[in-house]
Amino acid sequence: MSYTYILVLFCSLRQKTVKCTSIINMEDILEPLCNKSDLKPYCREYYYVFAVDWANDEAVQQALNIRRGTIGKWEFYNTTMHYSEGKNDTFCYAYDIYSSFYYHKKLVSKNSRALIFRQVDNTAPSIIHLTFTSQWIAALGLPIDSPWEPFYVDNQVGGYEMTYVQNNFSLTFATVKGAGHSVAQYKPKEAMVLTDRWLAS
Ligand SMILES: *[C@@H]1O[C@H](CO)[C@@H](O)[C@H](O)[C@H]1NC(C)=O
Ligand SMILES: *[C@@H]1O[C@H](CO)[C@@H](O)[C@H](O)[C@H]1NC(C)=O
Ligand SMILES: *[C@@H]1O[C@H](CO)[C@@H](O)[C@H](O)[C@H]1NC(C)=O
Ligand SMILES: *[C@@H]1O[C@H](CO)[C@@H](O)[C@H](O)[C@H]1NC(C)=O
Repeated sequence: MSYTYILVLFCSLRQKTVKCTSIINMEDILEPLCNKSDLKPYCREYYYVFAVDWANDEAVQQALNIRRGTIGKWEFYNTTMHYSEGKNDTFCYAYDIYSSFYYHKKLVSKNSRALIFRQVDNTAPSIIHLTFTSQWIAALGLPIDSPWEPFYVDNQVGGYEMTYVQNNFSLTFATVKGAGHSVAQYKPKEAMVLTDRWLAS
């Protein structure tokens, strides 16, 4: 949390906030901010270039059981998609969804299980702050079945999790220590352990 507090202390004004965060990697403030048109091998985005080659490799598609002919060329972003809606308010996709709370609220009455996991606060004060996730989950008003407790990976704390249960619905909320914006990318082992345990229970 210390980073958030430091930034709040020093950036009391909006203009100052912009200045304080303008050259910071918002996906993980502990990693360097890379120049997108001159990626270096230490940049995480550098590997995305290879991801495209990987996903378009026929052997890979076969291994993933993708039926031949069901997709064309795989792209990292489909940047033409938003034009189909006639809106240009986003970089890609059709339009922004400002809240998906309505859908979560509906799922609560179903016979289903959910696993929500996210990074702790390496990305503060960025894209999706931990507070937002905690708040929408709390707003569902579900009774707590098991309170926060650590989960372990290689005898280390991988993060923390808690579970809510109501009738036939259960929701496990977990945080993964040291992860950046997308947990599985930054902490693949921890994400795997979490998912395996959730699927097994
Ligand atoms: C990013 O890289 C490009 C291409 O090398 C360069 O022209 C540009 O000045 C760089 N931008 C910054 C902010 O370093
Ligand atoms: C991108 O999305 C548009 C609109 O849905 C679609 O027509 C097009 O085929 C997509 N492009 C790729 C490469 O998948
Ligand atoms: C969206 O952008 C495209 C390409 O720049 C342009 O042709 C189109 O008119 C824009 N649409 C809107 C609704 O602004
Ligand atoms: C929970 O699921 C069981 C089995 O599908 C069903 O019989 C029961 O009515 C459900 N309970 C509630 C409260 O939805």
